[in-house]
Amino acid sequence: MSRTDPLETALERAFGRVVGAQTPPRLMAAMHHAVFPGGARIRPRVALAVAAAHGPVPPRAESLAVAIEFVHCASLVHDDLPCFDNAPVRRGRMSVHAKFGESLAVLAGDGLIVGAFEVLGHAIVEQPRLAGAIGVLAAAVGANGGLVAGQGWEDEPSTDVQRYHHAKTAALFEAAVCMGAIAAKVDPAQWRPVGTALGEAYQIADDLGDLISTPTELGKPVGQDLIHDRPNAALELGPERAFARLEATLARAVDAVPPCPGQDEFREWLGSACARLFPRRPVVHHLPVREEAPLRA
Ligand code: IPE
Ligand code: IPE
Ligand code: MG
Ligand code: MG
Repeated sequence: MSRTDPLETALERAFGRVVGAQTPPRLMAAMHHAVFPGGARIRPRVALAVAAAHGPVPPRAESLAVAIEFVHCASLVHDDLPCFDNAPVRRGRMSVHAKFGESLAVLAGDGLIVGAFEVLGHAIVEQPRLAGAIGVLAAAVGANGGLVAGQGWEDEPSTDVQRYHHAKTAALFEAAVCMGAIAAKVDPAQWRPVGTALGEAYQIADDLGDLISTPTELGKPVGQDLIHDRPNAALELGPERAFARLEATLARAVDAVPPCPGQDEFREWLGSACARLFPRRPVVHHLPVREEAPLRA
């Protein structure tokens, strides 16, 4: 990821606004560690790609993208805590609590969530037409079907897998496409199904990664769903059927793209982003088939 990437520049600029002279230095360092360097940045890129599908990316759209990524990074910091997944490694390096301690990890996540809404607030003051983004992001993060609910389902005696996966992963993808639509001044409802399917596909891909990838490939521990007894599509279906479902779900996302000037470019972009991010179906080496011996005269 290049330093001149406009998304990275927007993230750095926004980060500089949510921390400052009054931020304790170790807390600032923990928050910085949570956001930089990033991972795939898929959610903000989806938001910007949706906006771009409707024409030139409008002013302050990048603030919406930044807000989504801050919330996502915060969710990973909290998810890695010992009280959740107890993961010492994230994005190929120490997770925030492993490096800075649990209390700063809790606060770093809190600071980023609040910071996300601060960034949105500033954008809305300048561009009141973006006001709908507040409700969209709050719903995707909140306790009524958002990320917080998703993590909360892990503490229930029984959990509906679809509801769990939707809340913990798909809700933020729905927010990403909806926020792109809001930036472009089009009805977010027409994009929501793209986010739903994309979020489902992303979760299946993550489940497959947990089962068949390596910590080096993913930059985070693998085999976690079995250890924590969490629902995992690849464990339930087996890798082969999980790959088939991943492909079908991604196709659903592509099919759901609403008519817009940049629909073909968006579909192409989505396909190549997913091809890059999703685990690859292992090549199955079939036993060589013996050729028929040529008939001799
Ligand atoms: C990981 O998300 C958590 C899931 C919901 C699957 P990402 O795979 O997008 O994480 P980063 O931001 O690229 O590290
Ligand atoms: C993380 O889910 C989704 C969040 C709400 C943060 P996982 O626990 O399955 O994701 P990884 O494997 O740690 O990235
Ligand atoms: Mg988790
Ligand atoms: Mg986890």
